[in-house]
Amino acid sequence: MQNTILGIETSCDETAVAVYDDVDGLRAHRIFSQVALHAKYGGVVPELASRDHIRKLLPLIEAALRDAAIQPTSLSAVAYTAGPGLIGALLVGATMAVGLGMAWGIPSIPVHHMEAHLLASLLEDEPPEFPFIALLVSGGHTMLVDVQEFGRYRILGQTLDDAAGEAFDKTAKLLGLPYPGGPELAALAEHGQGERFALPRPMLRRPGLDFSFSGLKTAVMLEVRKLEKSGAMTDRARADLADAFQQAVVDTLVAKSLRAVEQTACRRLVVAGGVGANRLLRSRLKEALAGEGGSVYYPRPEFCTDNGAMVAFAGLLRFQAGAVTSRASSRLVVEARARWNLQEI
Ligand code: KG4
Ligand code: ZN
Repeated sequence: MQNTILGIETSCDETAVAVYDDVDGLRAHRIFSQVALHAKYGGVVPELASRDHIRKLLPLIEAALRDAAIQPTSLSAVAYTAGPGLIGALLVGATMAVGLGMAWGIPSIPVHHMEAHLLASLLEDEPPEFPFIALLVSGGHTMLVDVQEFGRYRILGQTLDDAAGEAFDKTAKLLGLPYPGGPELAALAEHGQGERFALPRPMLRRPGLDFSFSGLKTAVMLEVRKLEKSGAMTDRARADLADAFQQAVVDTLVAKSLRAVEQTACRRLVVAGGVGANRLLRSRLKEALAGEGGSVYYPRPEFCTDNGAMVAFAGLLRFQAGAVTSRASSRLVVEARARWNLQEI
């Protein structure tokens, strides 16, 4: 029998919905980004995010079902991001999913947001086989994970302070770039020559696989102050600093990923999360893994950032694994956790 899952993602500032089934694959996906709503505040305002999810979610679900040409009666389950994320935003998606599941008489499936990210490259035409190492680099997380098989995850290392995406966003702000800063900073860096700035490569000399990015951000801040003081904060200097920063982050991510590959002798690296859309990171990792006789896998850029397809897909795998009870009482349980360790699922 064909299993068809509706996936709902509302953990941060993207309202996203998709329909995925185990015969035809991805049948529809819709994303509404709240970027314009938060731009004037320079970052995501949690309460505004929740309210906007409420406004957008139901019309997006209707649109996705229409795109997939499917009636709710043909769905097997509703999967939703249950965490980690902004608690108010999560609750919108979770209560909607549980409510629809109740109304349609099908189970709802809570999905871990980072698990969904690390499985996203399995949506592509040449998916990686298990086991693999996953480099998860998003706005909220930076970690290396040993993925033995679906559901078996061991965190090898993670950031001790800022996430890579967060560091991109904060540094972009220092350089006067609009929110969301990551892609803006990356675009500016393409025109820069960062060699004139000696920024640190945090944690590289230390053993282990943890990351730290807040010192790097501070180093950029000190350079910005120096340049401003001497009246040399030109567009050229801004682009050069952006390039220097991007090089430092990418150097660190590449070196630690290679270290993880060496430690585990697993030659497959999967990259996921918003920073996975970064062009320099993609080309440098490809080169580095090729040098080790390995391969690197990515979701398409639009599935690097938050999306409903990865949630529907992770939900399908959970559904197939039987991680769902269909007792009517359990259908009323709404799960939403702002913090949720990947190893605890
Ligand atoms: O995975 P994601 O959409 O949301 C979270 O779950 O956090 O990641 C968003 C993060 C933001 O910090 C954004 O600035 C960053 O990914 N990002 C990038 C690029 N595109 C998105 N960072 C660097 N270069 C990019 N091209
Ligand atoms: Zn995400």
